[in-house]
Amino acid sequence: MLILGIETSCDETGVAVYDGGLLAHAVHSQVSMHDAYGGVVPELASRDHVRRLVPLTREVLSRAGRRTADLTGIGYTEGPGLAGALLVGASFAHGLAQSLGIPAVGIHHLEGHLLSPLISEPAPRFPFVALLVSGGHTQLMRVEGIGRYLLLGETQDDAAGEAFDKTAKLLGLGYPGGPALSQLAQSGTPGRYRLPRPMIGSGDLEFSFSGLKTAVVTLAKQAAPAAHADIARAFVDAVVEVLVAKCVHAMELSGLTRLVVAGGVGANRQLRSALGKEAEQRGFDLFYPQPELCTDNGAMIAFAAAQRLRQGQDGAEHAFSVRPRWDLEAIS
Ligand code: KG4
Ligand code: ZN
Repeated sequence: MLILGIETSCDETGVAVYDGGLLAHAVHSQVSMHDAYGGVVPELASRDHVRRLVPLTREVLSRAGRRTADLTGIGYTEGPGLAGALLVGASFAHGLAQSLGIPAVGIHHLEGHLLSPLISEPAPRFPFVALLVSGGHTQLMRVEGIGRYLLLGETQDDAAGEAFDKTAKLLGLGYPGGPALSQLAQSGTPGRYRLPRPMIGSGDLEFSFSGLKTAVVTLAKQAAPAAHADIARAFVDAVVEVLVAKCVHAMELSGLTRLVVAGGVGANRQLRSALGKEAEQRGFDLFYPQPELCTDNGAMIAFAAAQRLRQGQDGAEHAFSVRPRWDLEAIS
């Protein structure tokens, strides 16, 4: 089963070929294009996906040593995401699939992230708890198997990655500023400033990150620019402490022993180090996707499509729609 995976939900064009293992994948990031506007411009994103899809598909097929005619199925991101961007991937996938007479299956972007640690060894066995932390989502899920996802808790407002990006912007670190903010925090003095840990004691698995931005604005106004590293440190420490506390709570409540961390913020080194310590102390196992598969990519979409097709989803119908808004629990 040779599957082509297409990811175009936001500002990365990701393409991959998967055949029981990942044969090749490539990602084109639009970050430098959107940077000038301080955020993603949807129309520019769609147009760039149009430009990139064909060359990237040719590139991954050639790197995998396969031809278009060898493909047996195509997976593409159906949602959630930007409507125009999703439509580019969906129409490309269905057009190609129809011309080859093969199935095309629409994949939930978060299912892709959630399953991404299963692409490489050691893969977690079901069931597990998953923390999904990206630019658009912060959720804890209980994962029983492919398509069996139970939402345990999620953010009430901003996603963790969004909080990283907004804070980074405030500190003049560009877009998306998560990695740069994390880097700056490395040189900050811990404890020099203290920011709130929103909802840390709420007793449930809900999150809230929007208030942090306001707290950072107030702090940044009072402090000298030289204190930016200390502010970054205070911000990262606050977010990481909340994410770790909620993960620990989820492990206790679920009684499970495997925690999967996926989505862009899962690449964060402070989060990884703090979670690693807790996992060791409390005896649970931690799983991450391989580093380049933490952020958006086509490999996770190809992998999820391979599982779906193996389970018998047919994908023969080439009429399609996209779902800019889509709850993960709504799928089965
Ligand atoms: O999963 P992803 O690529 O796209 C979405 O589906 O949203 O996640 C992107 C998010 C951005 O907010 C970015 O700033 C954040 O992940 N991010 C990080 C790091 N790497 C990416 N945040 C903190 N530390 C990082 N190392
Ligand atoms: Zn994503």
